[in-house]
Amino acid sequence: MPGTEDAFYLTTPIYYVNDAPHIGHGYTTVMGDILTRWHRQRGEQVWYLTGTDEHGQKVLRKAEENGVKPQEWVDRLIDTEWKPLLETLDIANDDFIRTTEERHLLGAKAFWERMHANDAVYKGSFSGWYSVGAEEFVAEDDVLDGEGEDTGHKVSALDGSRLEHVTEENYFFRLSDYQDRLLALYEERPEFIQPESSRNEIIAFVKRGLNDLSISRSTFDWGIQIPWDPSHVMYVWIEALLNYVTAIGYGTDQDRFERLWPADVHLVGKDIARFHAVIWPAMQMASGIEVSHRVFAHGWLLVGGQKMSKSKANGIRPAEIVDVFGSDAYRYYFARALTFGRDGSISWEDIHARYTSELANGLGNLASRTAAMIGKYFEGRLPDAGEPTDAETAVVDLVADATARADAAIEALAPHEAVSAVWEIVESLNGYLAEQQPWQVAKHDLVRTGAILATAAEGLRALCVLLAPVMPKATAALWESLGADAVIGPLSDQRIADVPRWGQLPAGTPVTKGAVLFPRIEVEDA
Ligand code: ME8
Ligand code: MG
Repeated sequence: MPGTEDAFYLTTPIYYVNDAPHIGHGYTTVMGDILTRWHRQRGEQVWYLTGTDEHGQKVLRKAEENGVKPQEWVDRLIDTEWKPLLETLDIANDDFIRTTEERHLLGAKAFWERMHANDAVYKGSFSGWYSVGAEEFVAEDDVLDGEGEDTGHKVSALDGSRLEHVTEENYFFRLSDYQDRLLALYEERPEFIQPESSRNEIIAFVKRGLNDLSISRSTFDWGIQIPWDPSHVMYVWIEALLNYVTAIGYGTDQDRFERLWPADVHLVGKDIARFHAVIWPAMQMASGIEVSHRVFAHGWLLVGGQKMSKSKANGIRPAEIVDVFGSDAYRYYFARALTFGRDGSISWEDIHARYTSELANGLGNLASRTAAMIGKYFEGRLPDAGEPTDAETAVVDLVADATARADAAIEALAPHEAVSAVWEIVESLNGYLAEQQPWQVAKHDLVRTGAILATAAEGLRALCVLLAPVMPKATAALWESLGADAVIGPLSDQRIADVPRWGQLPAGTPVTKGAVLFPRIEVEDA
């Protein structure tokens, strides 16, 4: 893995393979992909990790219900569902970690040995409530009487999942020792847990006091054995969080680990913010490694006003949307229509409406009429840009300004703001063409017509680079239609910082009318 020094290292959660992925999983993975592709487009080294969480009771029970061994169950789901998801969504991850892999097993054991040696772990006995659905221990204060189909059972106040009472001999992690150090971390590094709403919630939670945490299970064996006591397996979370270090070589390839660690960003949903912003940094402190830079907790996708989940019937599969609109439109929609960090509603109607107005009529139409007019009036050769008038200068200035704002938004983990800044360019170019009317000007002044179309083409060149992280396929097709590869090189080599430099496409470049980028789609009763 040469050249990963100082790489921008971003992770997604590793998802449970009790079932197939839905668009909630797709959301985190796509947003991580957009962020990391943008960093690559800046010319940075990047390491983008995603993967799957395969141990624990939730997965074990699902395998049992299906009458197969857990290993067989997870292998099957990885092959048929989780790996194909990456293709479906056009994800350019650098690695995919499965917690059943040898590197994870060895690394997790090494990490536990280290925590043990540092006296962060002790043996005790546990009696209390456990949610298999959330794979978490639930404190007495958060135990409620179930209602409806949960009548007669206890449920968790955290997520409504059903609870079971367990009494086991367990190992404990001295989480209570870390309260002050965690509060100091949040204070000294305000960016550590974002957005502000999550930060406030985490600080309030830690201020209430922390209990030591039960971190092993001894009533089933689908997990990784505790190195010094094989009658216990690691509590699945205290194993899963370790994927962020085991995937890059902790305990198996120390050089590699040191090159990539610490992680720059752990992207998670807000359901698992506590694990990442409380337990995980405490574990990092306990083992003596540097604490990750940032945890960003995004909101929930709501479908019909409810959190979308596998257990409710509203769990939409990513392929259902991609099959209709394509992966680019899928990626664009989730980046554009939702505020990253807040809950947001999605619907077929909204996807379709944005597809039609923003992609087909907005970007698609801009690209196709520019190429068509260059074909019609200039035999498919890029005309000369000539001297800019105020109208051209306004476009050039906006591109520079929007590029800077988009880049800053990515830095601030606000990809929705980045896309909306870039979209100002699309709108401004469409407005420019509508005002300049090159099809009218062509009747009497071909020099001026050429200047207008050269400006539009140059704007499309800028848009290709800025939108490549969001829509890799459409921008690749547009790059080809602009003939840009032959004159300024592959799209992947273009840098964000160079986007505003005007006049990169020389006059005479062959421009072709490629395939329609976003064909019209009729959706009946979706
Ligand atoms: O929690 N809206 O895995 P998981 C937005 N294995 N995002 C959603 C979502 C929704 N409705 N539903 C799921 C686990 N997600 C653990 C993680 S990490 C060391 C271990 C996304 O399969 C979001 O990223 O339950 C959420 O945090 C994650 O899927 C939970 O996936
Ligand atoms: Mg979950």
